[in-house]
Amino acid sequence: MLSSNTFKFDVLLIGGGGAGLRAAIAIAETNPNFSVAVVSKVYPMRSHTVAAEGGAAAVIKENDSFDDHCMDTIAGGDWMSDQDAVELFVNEAPKELTQMEHWGCPWSREPDGKVAVRPFGGMSIERTWFAADKTGFHMLHTLFQTSLKYNNITRFDEWFTTKILVENGRCQGATAIELRSGKVGVIAAKAVIMCTGGAGRVFPFTTNGNIKTGDGMAMAYRAGVPLKDMEFIQYHPTGLPGTGILITEATRGEGGILVNKDNYRYLQDYDLGKPLDIDDPMHPVKKSMELGPRDRLSQAFVAEREKGRTVPGPYGHVVHLDIRHLGKKIIDKKLPFVRELARNYAGIDPVYELIPVLPVVHYMMGGIDTDKDGATSLPGLFAAGECACVSINGANRLGSNSLTEILVFGACAGKAAATYATEHPDLDIAAVEKKCTDEQERIAREFIRKTGGKERIAALRNELKDTLESGAGIYRTEVSLKETCDKIDELRERFGNVLIEDSSLTFNTELTSALELDFMLDVAEAIANSALARTESRGSHQRTDFPERNDGKFLKHSLAYHTDDKPRINYKDVVITKWPPGERVYGKEE
Ligand code: FUM
Repeated sequence: MLSSNTFKFDVLLIGGGGAGLRAAIAIAETNPNFSVAVVSKVYPMRSHTVAAEGGAAAVIKENDSFDDHCMDTIAGGDWMSDQDAVELFVNEAPKELTQMEHWGCPWSREPDGKVAVRPFGGMSIERTWFAADKTGFHMLHTLFQTSLKYNNITRFDEWFTTKILVENGRCQGATAIELRSGKVGVIAAKAVIMCTGGAGRVFPFTTNGNIKTGDGMAMAYRAGVPLKDMEFIQYHPTGLPGTGILITEATRGEGGILVNKDNYRYLQDYDLGKPLDIDDPMHPVKKSMELGPRDRLSQAFVAEREKGRTVPGPYGHVVHLDIRHLGKKIIDKKLPFVRELARNYAGIDPVYELIPVLPVVHYMMGGIDTDKDGATSLPGLFAAGECACVSINGANRLGSNSLTEILVFGACAGKAAATYATEHPDLDIAAVEKKCTDEQERIAREFIRKTGGKERIAALRNELKDTLESGAGIYRTEVSLKETCDKIDELRERFGNVLIEDSSLTFNTELTSALELDFMLDVAEAIANSALARTESRGSHQRTDFPERNDGKFLKHSLAYHTDDKPRINYKDVVITKWPPGERVYGKEE
């Protein structure tokens, strides 16, 4: 890295996916005179939002209600959701999706022209809006093209943020490397919003793109902001073997069924409801066991495997997803991408053949601890989207709530950050420039100028992924988690001896891989240590040594704080408004 440049903005967005772009638009609309920077390590249309398939949830049908959407979300999250946040989310959701329509999002329609909605897992009624099975792609396009309307939004595409800059107890910007030149930027701003997405890449088998390495979570954590509920990792029940590519829940929403090696609909053995009439794709949702919540379906897969009822394959055991009965016409109209993916990546045509699937890491319910405005405990720092934990998703997110979440809370964080920036107009530019110089020096010392390192990035990264899967996967125990925590400590130590052979300035992907691994190690320690401390089972966090939910002790959010040693884990109460903790019941007779 050679020179550095200083840029000054009112608000800085780190991350150019759905949450970042929605926040940028909210700020640009709040105050047309505000200058907004969007820094992204990839071109925004390559952000992971683009990969979302199935849809976005919001009440639209006459026989639906805000209370029902709240209740489904809260029960799906095993009562770990903050209910005030859920109420805000559910109320704003239809407005945000309608706003997307006005910005040009091509929602799929019913024959009478009304917006179409499909059933989704854990939702008691159809409320998932969709654009075929490329919903994230269309939403991201809509947000991106809308953001282009505003002259006060400046993009820093392919700039890699390494650190947020804190001065006088306030977040006042960030340091970022321009990947094509190696030039370093001090991007000073009165308020900063983290929108960097999740960290599924800390696991070996994931639907998440390569870019999802937890950068924003780690940067906030290092700056003293706690990471909340990091033990809750979502496995999506239908990933494509080998690649981890998502086979959307919309397949089951449209009537697809899961069968084991005996071609038996095994979910009927798992208290998830009765088999639906497969000749009737417009089935009553409440009777569909395939539309149970993701945590329960992934756990049922493990039980089937243990009973020897799954199918061995080159990438581990699988079950089969059968959508053949839907017919070519419906598949091509509503699930064209699923057909394309299955053909290209599994070599099968789901119009005629079964799709092999298995659980795959998909989403992190936890993240940077924020309030409903996206504000963190660090003044001037906000967060939204998957990197944040507001928390609406509790211990298990319902499918299709996250695309809506990036809109609702992206907009909330944008507005709140704009207000904060108005109220805190001063920036200490000299101080943040000095901090940036220190950061530049650290990167040069620890990576670029470093010689004699012995540890390969790829080897450390693979060992990290493997230990998370073996110790902190669908089922965990004290023994497995302690092993994982110890292994992460060992990897952190070995990372100090990392080998960097590329000292070039132009697209130095070895350097960015090292910086990402550094972030991943921090996120991983927060996951494993938070999981070790939660001695109960709830939602996606299943401790076989503590199989019961323990509301007396653990109806609380975990907060992992960074220290020089292991993270410190504290707790804070879950906000309950009007839905007292209860049993999660799916598929019972009405
Ligand atoms: O299966 C899916 O389409 C995933 C949706 C989601 O995670 O919200």
